[in-house]
Amino acid sequence: MLVLLTILNLLTSSNAVTFFLVVPDGSISGQLGSSVVLPCTLSPSQDCREFEILWYRNKDRDNPVLLYKDLKVQENAGDPQYRGRASLVGDLQKGNVSLKLENLTVADRGEYVCFVDRTKWYDQASVFITVPVVGSPPLQSLTEVGDQVNVTCESDGWSPKPTLTWRDRSGKELWNSPKYYTQG
Ligand SMILES: *[C@@H]1O[C@H](CO)[C@@H](O)[C@H](O)[C@H]1NC(C)=O
Ligand SMILES: *[C@@H]1O[C@H](CO)[C@@H](O)[C@H](O)[C@H]1NC(C)=O
Ligand SMILES: *[C@@H]1O[C@H](CO)[C@@H](O)[C@H](O)[C@H]1NC(C)=O
Repeated sequence: MLVLLTILNLLTSSNAVTFFLVVPDGSISGQLGSSVVLPCTLSPSQDCREFEILWYRNKDRDNPVLLYKDLKVQENAGDPQYRGRASLVGDLQKGNVSLKLENLTVADRGEYVCFVDRTKWYDQASVFITVPVVGSPPLQSLTEVGDQVNVTCESDGWSPKPTLTWRDRSGKELWNSPKYYTQG
């Protein structure tokens, strides 16, 4: 009986103090200049208004994207790069600590760590942002090289690196055609 009580005790007390963060599996994609929400929620759901909530990048916790502490967002604690662009949009009473990031730039790409701390317990999880950029329309040119024809297609400004396929008139892929990528 004593053992059972102890186990019950452990279960209830650990339920009361622990949580895990739930984030999406894939990355969040946003167009340049648009805004995205990086989802992050506590499980089991619980009021986290009194916890510390930190969103940071590149292991730089001293210069976070956003810091929520002492019941409010600390406006001047963050990286100036994110000032006025980052906010908490979820319902903290339900454990929703999702981050909204506005006016996306290419520099916003990458990993964001959601970190939630309460006395004696914390968890963290990563969310990734991609900002795809479509390059210039492809330009084709032909040059005769001896008895062969050199067909060139050029397009730049893509990010991330696009996939490139050559097809013949019927749409069949030409496997042996060389593909060159240059940076910059
Ligand atoms: C958390 O809040 C965001 C922003 O309001 C919302 O889009 C999202 O659905 C919420 N997540 C959950 C699990 O309620
Ligand atoms: C969005 O970013 C552009 C370019 O960086 C800037 O000129 C503009 O003021 C920003 N707008 C807001 C609302 O932050
Ligand atoms: C084919 O054309 C491209 C672009 O004009 C050029 O860089 C390349 O050297 C040419 N290849 C040959 C075999 O002439």
